[in-house]
Amino acid sequence: MNGKRILVTGGAGFIGSQMARRLVDDNEIVIFDNMHRDALRYTELNDNPNVTVVSGDVMDRDGLFKAVEGCDIVVHLAAIAGVDTVMGMPTQTMKVNLLGTLNALDAAVKFKVERFVDFSTSEVFGTHVYMAEEHNATALGVVGESRWTYAVSKLAAEHLVHAYHKEYGLPTVTIRPFNVYGPQQVGIGAIHTFAVNAIKGETIEIHGDGNQIRAWCFIDDMIDGTLLCLEKDEAIGHVFNIGNPRATVTVANLAYLVRRLCDSPSEVVYTNKDYVDIELRIPSIKKAEKMLGFWPKIDLEEGLARTIEWYREQADD
Ligand SMILES: NC(=O)c1ccc[n+]([C@@H]2O[C@H](COP(=O)([O-])OP(=O)(O)OC[C@H]3O[C@@H](n4cnc5c(N)ncnc54)[C@H](O)[C@@H]3O)[C@@H](O)[C@H]2O)c1
Repeated sequence: MNGKRILVTGGAGFIGSQMARRLVDDNEIVIFDNMHRDALRYTELNDNPNVTVVSGDVMDRDGLFKAVEGCDIVVHLAAIAGVDTVMGMPTQTMKVNLLGTLNALDAAVKFKVERFVDFSTSEVFGTHVYMAEEHNATALGVVGESRWTYAVSKLAAEHLVHAYHKEYGLPTVTIRPFNVYGPQQVGIGAIHTFAVNAIKGETIEIHGDGNQIRAWCFIDDMIDGTLLCLEKDEAIGHVFNIGNPRATVTVANLAYLVRRLCDSPSEVVYTNKDYVDIELRIPSIKKAEKMLGFWPKIDLEEGLARTIEWYREQADD
């Protein structure tokens, strides 16, 4: 892709900043972010003449409209994400993830963008997801459990995105990422916490009995999938799982693997888990493979080794 002006909401975050890095040499990038998180500080993007950073909130309709004007493409990643953050602010999660998407869609329609890529989540599949395909039914969690405000807001936003495609002809694509990890991840997640603690030789805590199962997708593969969704005409109007089903482990196995790769003496302990969790989450990526040619290349050990190396560099700074 080249010669495009691309607005990235949430572009200061983990996935957005890595995507911007891959596109910045041949395109103009507008990063629109309220800086709730900031991974830009780990990149050279702030000093790149092809990048404009707008400090703004997707809840501010006028500000967002101003930023979208003149853009060819909108990639919408701005969201409240991460289990701890979501559980601490469920109201804000619902508002930002749903109404922020509404604002972004309205701006995209008004300025007739040629592609709108929306980031949903694999959590829309619920608590037990084995080789989930995009056409499988989605699941809603119990009302009153704050954790599910994330999945519900993202799912409602997905419906909104499809409705804008059908009613207004907006060229949309929805992505459901499955457990992305890698260098420069700014939110707290299992790999972040395990790696940081293992490097310091501190105790590694596993919440619950550690038999939750996840498939981990390295950031470079996630960006490959995202770029295919940006570029391929066949993607328009569709939703795609993007993940790596071959990088599947239990949380306990992951903790021991990280400890081994860090060559760490850390003790691994099991602690009480006081929130509902997803027990099993493995995607089917057949649709993305068939329609877009997506195939994740980085296996878990290689991805973890690269990630740990980056955390080590941070610890040494
Ligand atoms: N990382 C994963 O494993 C994963 C999995 C499933 C879905 N997703 C989705 O992918 C997207 C990107 O995830 P990420 O891992 O890069 O998360 P992230 O938290 O690193 O990035 C999100 C960005 O959105 C910004 N933001 C939050 N509220 C905002 C607001 N009101 N206005 C403007 N900006 C705001 C934050 O400052 C942050 O920079 C999110 O929509 C997330 O829900 C990520």
